[in-house]
Amino acid sequence: MRSTPRPGAVSSTVRRGLVAAAVLALGSTAAVATATSASAAVACNVNYSASEWQGGMSVNLTIQNLGDALNGWTLTFSFPNSGQHVSQGWSGNWSQSGSNVTVTAMDWNKSMPSGSSTSIGFNGTWSGSNPTPTSFKINGVTCNGATQSPSPSPSPSASPSASPSASPSASPSASPSASPSASPSASPSASPSASPSPSPSPSVTPSPGVHVDNPYVGATGYVNPDWSRSASNEPGGSRVANLSTAVWLDRIAAISSGSAGNNAMGLRDHLDEAVRQDAANGSAPLTIQVVVYDLPNRDCSALASNGELKIAQNGLARYKAEFIDVIAGIMADPKYSNLRIVTIIEPDSLPNLITNVNAFAACQEAQSSGAYVQGVQYALNKLHAIRNVYTYVDAAHHAWLGWDNNFSPMVNLFHQMATGTTAGVNSIDGFIVNTANFSATIEPHFTINTMVNGQSVRQSKWVDWNWYVDEQSFAVGLRNALVAKGFPNTLGMLIDTSRNGWGGSARPTAASTSTNVDTFVNQSRIDRRIHAGNWCNQSGAGLGERPTAAPAAGLDAYVWIKPPGESDGSSSQIPNDEGKGFDRMCDPTYTGNSLNGNNMSGALSGAPVSGHWFSAQFQQLMQNAYPPLS
Ligand code: BGC
Repeated sequence: MRSTPRPGAVSSTVRRGLVAAAVLALGSTAAVATATSASAAVACNVNYSASEWQGGMSVNLTIQNLGDALNGWTLTFSFPNSGQHVSQGWSGNWSQSGSNVTVTAMDWNKSMPSGSSTSIGFNGTWSGSNPTPTSFKINGVTCNGATQSPSPSPSPSASPSASPSASPSASPSASPSASPSASPSASPSASPSASPSPSPSPSVTPSPGVHVDNPYVGATGYVNPDWSRSASNEPGGSRVANLSTAVWLDRIAAISSGSAGNNAMGLRDHLDEAVRQDAANGSAPLTIQVVVYDLPNRDCSALASNGELKIAQNGLARYKAEFIDVIAGIMADPKYSNLRIVTIIEPDSLPNLITNVNAFAACQEAQSSGAYVQGVQYALNKLHAIRNVYTYVDAAHHAWLGWDNNFSPMVNLFHQMATGTTAGVNSIDGFIVNTANFSATIEPHFTINTMVNGQSVRQSKWVDWNWYVDEQSFAVGLRNALVAKGFPNTLGMLIDTSRNGWGGSARPTAASTSTNVDTFVNQSRIDRRIHAGNWCNQSGAGLGERPTAAPAAGLDAYVWIKPPGESDGSSSQIPNDEGKGFDRMCDPTYTGNSLNGNNMSGALSGAPVSGHWFSAQFQQLMQNAYPPLS
């Protein structure tokens, strides 16, 4: 588990340019000529929506299938200007020859039922000018949408329309370019295939439990005896040892009893114990949180939590058969049907497909093989089918996805992925942010709209043009964009607050009075990390908000998913049989790389491999808890 921001493909320069150039936004529907052949089974429409800045662009395309069902598609178009280039595409295999661009479908989006839509996109560069392409073909047939449109526009217009995502003064919730109007797939007229089918997967027998909107409301949280024992063995640890933390299923062996490390109990042991705690707790229902974390090529952009399964070694099939099927089989046992079982699905996986495909071969393989998307879809199909199981998909954190170029593609990928599950968007109860990370829930002394001597805090080195300064604003902004895209309004967000308290003597008590924007932000922020990209065993961190149900609109809960005291990764190489590597971001002497602005890692020394107990860290987390421990 890394929880690195890894803006990856989006260089700091590009992000700065997004605003510094005050951005010319192009939102254009390129509706083009009609399918020429009367017998053509293909009819389509392509919406091309670009955000543009000097020399760069980020483009979302929505392909609408207005003809017969497609099993496989190839989109072709030409840039009008020879200076226009695709540099990184997503949700398709992108190539460019001269001005001609070809995109072929991925495995997971190649099937397009009649009436359905799919979103793809790219980041690119341009010189001279950046006109919108005027003609798009699917499988060689020119798209126009005339069959569906009463007044087709014969020639595409590239009328610039103000896009909230492009305005430096836009509020964070307005920043994602995921408005329904920009995305045909989010419109109410979306095809039946894009809308969820409520029927559960037939392969898992539905259990008799009930499914509520927010599983945390009115419920008691499960106390993991394994973690609780480690915590209470620490001096002062009894102050928190009775709090609810998640159970991590981080390898196949963790499902059964007796696996190594801190986690000696297997899944059945935990669920049996949860039934016991539930019975001892009176009438309140009990919520138990289980992290499902074993995708093949896991943690593809880092090393500290590399897992046991590899895509090239049949990892996806093993993930399905030996991991998800076994977990779902246990959870579906009717004796657990009164528990509310919350599953946290695959931290970091889908966000890695947005930012880290170019730089990391393991992520590239995860994308091109479809293994991450298919693995998550498989998990959702199996788990959602069990009525008392709740699914929350991991959505990284604000300092990973909070820039337009990452945010919008992420929203699209979540939507694409979800619409490919049996129950469509309804297979997901919510999303979780900040899993195992250290970003503050709320920065109390400034917001994204704070101005310092005429300058936005977005211009500070710390915020670095992000649209968010903390996790709660990010969670709400992401939720808004996901609902606008087509997820149900019942979607609930979780924030992992186990280690983001940032109390102790270094915590600022008021906003800085400095008129320099960098000084102001650095003196005001409670997040005391050296860089928001640092993610491993952060020095100075403290326990955060205690687990809380429904703390704010749109949030299902503050939760403790990363069990405090369990390491993020070893500070130096430690041989182990868990597949865990040594990531320099966990080495306190490491001077960093481009992903953390070449800063020191900020990691504590003396750390064991990820998941193992790290006493010194636990002590510091208690010492710097906020709210403080009494
Ligand atoms: C590790 C897992 C561990 C989890 C919770 C992750 O970073 O890779 O092995 O179970 O953290 O501590």
